[in-house]
Amino acid sequence: MLTGKRIILGITGSIAAYKAAEIVRRLRSLNAEVWVVMTRGGTEFITPLTLQTLSGHTVYTETFALQEGSKITHINLIKDADLFLIAPATANIIGKFAAGIGDDLLTTMALAARCPVIIAPAMDSDMYDNPILQNNIAQLKETGCRFIETEEGELASGLVGKGRLANIEVIISTVIDLLVVKKDMAGEVVLVTAGPTREYLDPVRFISNRSSGKMGYAIAASAKERGAEVILISGPTTLQKPAKSEGIELINVVTASEMREEALKNLKRATIVIMAAAVSDYRPVDISPGKIKKSGGNVSLDLTETPDILTEIGMDKGNRIVVGFAAETENLESNAMLKLKRKNLDIIVANDVLDPDAGFEVDTNVVTIIDKNNEVTPLPRMSKKEVSYRILDKIAKIANLKRTYSRA
Ligand code: PMT
Repeated sequence: MLTGKRIILGITGSIAAYKAAEIVRRLRSLNAEVWVVMTRGGTEFITPLTLQTLSGHTVYTETFALQEGSKITHINLIKDADLFLIAPATANIIGKFAAGIGDDLLTTMALAARCPVIIAPAMDSDMYDNPILQNNIAQLKETGCRFIETEEGELASGLVGKGRLANIEVIISTVIDLLVVKKDMAGEVVLVTAGPTREYLDPVRFISNRSSGKMGYAIAASAKERGAEVILISGPTTLQKPAKSEGIELINVVTASEMREEALKNLKRATIVIMAAAVSDYRPVDISPGKIKKSGGNVSLDLTETPDILTEIGMDKGNRIVVGFAAETENLESNAMLKLKRKNLDIIVANDVLDPDAGFEVDTNVVTIIDKNNEVTPLPRMSKKEVSYRILDKIAKIANLKRTYSRA
């Protein structure tokens, strides 16, 4: 299941460190490549030799140890990793990571990690309940780290409460969930719109917006990865076009009315529609056949509304799951909810486009996913790729319920 995946396991100074041996064994039995990095505290509880034997690789503990030539170990190891799993993670390591301190190999690697980071804490329950630790956890979650909840039970300190390292099966299934691409979109035909539209005033000038297409293209790629047939209707972007061999059917359009035409033409085939495009709401009433000349004074433009594609699709929804985006600058949730109802959607993905890490052009987004049952899921800042995964997770859940219900 984990063939080809490179996992770094960080082990810190908790009594639960002995359980890391079993984590290594289970990951290896799923064919993952595992490298172990330990803090000094970790080595007090379990020997590097045990972990070296189980992982089949040198165990790293020192920041400045050199490896093959002159590349520094932490950069070398973390650069190609698919996942950094810290289990068990002490309050100390979580605090250092949250504060940006890298004073040993493990914390330095955590700071350098570009791959997903999963943290499985283990500690005494009083430490676990401490608001300082809880703030550190919340802060790391904000940056995209995933935490595996501790279990309740008898602790090494003699106390009974929260703080036991999560069950190893839970840890392994969290890793699998993150690293193994689900094929839960197989059999679905996903129609995605992306990018801006252009509404021309004359042959050289147009009204448009800053949409880069990144959000929509990420959704299209993820839906394909998860087994769907994908139709991507794209406004003008400078993004790399998906190759035919990637299995995404790309339809290029320029104006809102072209996007509408292609969306409605392909709607019959679609089982899921996701409108991530930033469609112009207005277009000039007249398009001048020649370049409009300067006339020495002010110029007024007569604008008319473009067709609302999503509203039309919502009206003819049938059994499809229809997802819209809401680009908002104020009252994010309430405005998005109004759009969800007005356009008869199953889900709306609201992004605050004034947030510099969200919305137009950037590689990240900060969204709140709202479904038609008013379930509101705010997500921290994450890459557009990861946002696309969370949207598809939500769609898969609704599709499952909808189909089970319609079969009953
Ligand atoms: O492309 P990126 O640079 O990655 O940026 C991503 C994004 C900010 C464009 C994306 O995350 C986003 O928010 N897309 C929707 C932008 C938008 O048009 O929002 P809106 O609130 O104005 O429209 C609501 C919904 O109606 C949207 O799903 C939109 O596609 C749809 N719509 C709008 C107008 C129109 N005439 N027809 C439509 O179908």
